[in-house]
Amino acid sequence: MNIERQSFIPAIQEKKRVFEKRLKVFPQGFLALADCSEETVLKNKVALVCGYLCAEKWDFLPDFSALSGMDEKEKKSSLKKIEKRFALGHNPLLTHKTNGCFLYVSSFALLKDYRGKGYGEKFFLNSVAALSSADSQIKKVVILVDSEWAPAIKIYEKLGFQKVFELKEFFPTIQKKVNADGIIMTADAALFRDIEFSKSENDLSGIRI
Ligand SMILES: CC(C)(COP(=O)(O)OP(=O)(O)OC[C@H]1O[C@@H](n2cnc3c(N)ncnc32)[C@H](O)[C@@H]1OP(=O)(O)O)[C@@H](O)C(=O)NCCC(=O)NCCS
Repeated sequence: MNIERQSFIPAIQEKKRVFEKRLKVFPQGFLALADCSEETVLKNKVALVCGYLCAEKWDFLPDFSALSGMDEKEKKSSLKKIEKRFALGHNPLLTHKTNGCFLYVSSFALLKDYRGKGYGEKFFLNSVAALSSADSQIKKVVILVDSEWAPAIKIYEKLGFQKVFELKEFFPTIQKKVNADGIIMTADAALFRDIEFSKSENDLSGIRI
């Protein structure tokens, strides 16, 4: 919860019970980044969890292209359904399907002290690669990102994700009056299979996934 508090404004932070449900419904989809360096272990007596990524598997992705052919009423109701599916605090017990072929990365964050060192990109890539490689049913990886979260967007674009839809004014912001757009991005899971994992200690300087 400390990582969550350091990463998102209160209006966006997920509650502890949401994380508990995510862990219960798809524990393999909940990955932690741990600082196991000698210095940290000596100081804290244990390794320090400095990042997390959690995911669920969906059995469908809304047909975003169909929206353009709809009349206003239909469009409004379809948009509501899309927003509900991606809503913060949504219940993974209802959305996660064991046989789903869409891996939805519901959240990903690092403690502040560990940012800007390349760990975020490595952790995300290794996590998605591990999850996609472990499950051949997964065809697409899906994420929803706030249009203002520049480092996250940079990582996703660099790794081949492409924007498929924008949820207008989806995310609350500090300014309260103006919400930020949510960008839905997808990438083929095939992009992440068979990649070389970062196993070398030097590569992550004692940081382990
Ligand atoms: C997103 C997050 C996990 C990234 O972790 P990180 O370790 O800082 O990321 P990295 O160091 O691997 O790389 C981030 C990239 O963004 C770039 N970046 C950093 N700050 C940036 C900024 N303000 N504007 C544009 N790009 C920026 C970095 O230069 C780097 O790109 P490069 O490798 O081409 O130089 C971390 O910033 C975080 O926890 N943020 C808060 C939570 C969040 O936004 N989660 C995403 C949920 S969708």
